[in-house]
Amino acid sequence: MSSKENNAVPILDLSLQHKVLRKDILVAVQQVIDSQAFILGPNVSALEKEIASFCNVQNAVGVASGTDALILSIKAAGIGQGDEVIVPAFTFIATADAVSLLGATPIFADINPETYTLSPSSVAEKITPRTRAIIPVHLYGQTAEMDPILDLATKHDLAVIEDCAQSLGARYRGTPSGSMGEFGCISFFPSKNLGSCGDGGMIICRSAMHAEKLRSLRSHGSKRKYFSDEQGFNSRLDEIQAAIIRVKLPHLEYWNISRLEVAHLYEEVIGDIEGISLPTTRSDTTHIFHQYTVRIDSSLYDRDQIQKGMASKGVQTSVYYPVPLHLQKMYSHLGYHHGMLPAAEQAAKEVLSLPIYPGIQLSQITYIARCLREVLADLK
Ligand SMILES: Cc1ncc(COP(=O)(O)O)c(C=O)c1O
Repeated sequence: MSSKENNAVPILDLSLQHKVLRKDILVAVQQVIDSQAFILGPNVSALEKEIASFCNVQNAVGVASGTDALILSIKAAGIGQGDEVIVPAFTFIATADAVSLLGATPIFADINPETYTLSPSSVAEKITPRTRAIIPVHLYGQTAEMDPILDLATKHDLAVIEDCAQSLGARYRGTPSGSMGEFGCISFFPSKNLGSCGDGGMIICRSAMHAEKLRSLRSHGSKRKYFSDEQGFNSRLDEIQAAIIRVKLPHLEYWNISRLEVAHLYEEVIGDIEGISLPTTRSDTTHIFHQYTVRIDSSLYDRDQIQKGMASKGVQTSVYYPVPLHLQKMYSHLGYHHGMLPAAEQAAKEVLSLPIYPGIQLSQITYIARCLREVLADLK
């Protein structure tokens, strides 16, 4: 008997965490409303301290989103027109968008095909006299290979801006993601491991001078209200979002461990399927499984057909990301073409993310595994 749609599994279900935390979240929101301190109030300052401590750094600056965290960091590093910044070709568009928005040029490097993170040897090939920074992305919740990237940065005097939108709580050789480069850019987008109920972001940094610069940049370039020293932005973390995130933060470690347990369950139930490769975790990292992303061997199956088949059985899956950034229309003027960054191109064709979130049931995982086997059998 084939599986039926009434067993629907969404790619992400936040209702479970909201059910447990509903009262505390509503009280926190109510307190902000009663206080009338809506902009840069006590919750933003407290959350900045809490995230800094969680990441083992001295400074954190709340901003409006993960994208803004990148934009402000790049600006704070003094990067702009005429500069080059090396980014992975396989990531969310915001990583490169932030660079081009400031007038600098994103230079796309290839990825390690096993882990989907920036390939240090590809980065080395892309460095020119105009290179000013490298942005490693800790994709799917696993850190990039930071030591060789940091070595290259030191050798060529480059800034390292870590994109930790997907990796809050992950570690590289024991060090928290985001705390190794000059800046670590966090996103509180609702679907992240630590998500708000709207947009939000934060930048962590070791240098107090950088933190001061970022605080000015997020408020129109002003250190003192109505006195602007430089071109800035309006990019502040919302006080209500900060209050909500503060309710959730104490649960993050546990949620990250739950995701790891789900990943282990997936290994047991789909680890033997021919043509499906499971995520690789390097031994020097802790993976927080923001996504559970498998690779479908494109010589055996069409990934998009599998996704359709899973959807017909009520299992929602996602493709992060179907087009590598060097082949995006918005970057066509940069002159990249198919075949230039083969690992990123292959990944875009083959990756498929399966549902993962704290609280997903064992029965749901086994259902997903059964559906996958049925869909593959139908496609044979
Ligand atoms: C890798 C990566 N970088 C940057 C961002 C941007 O974060 P936000 O959506 O908070 O602007 C995201 C979030 O989707 C992301 O996944």
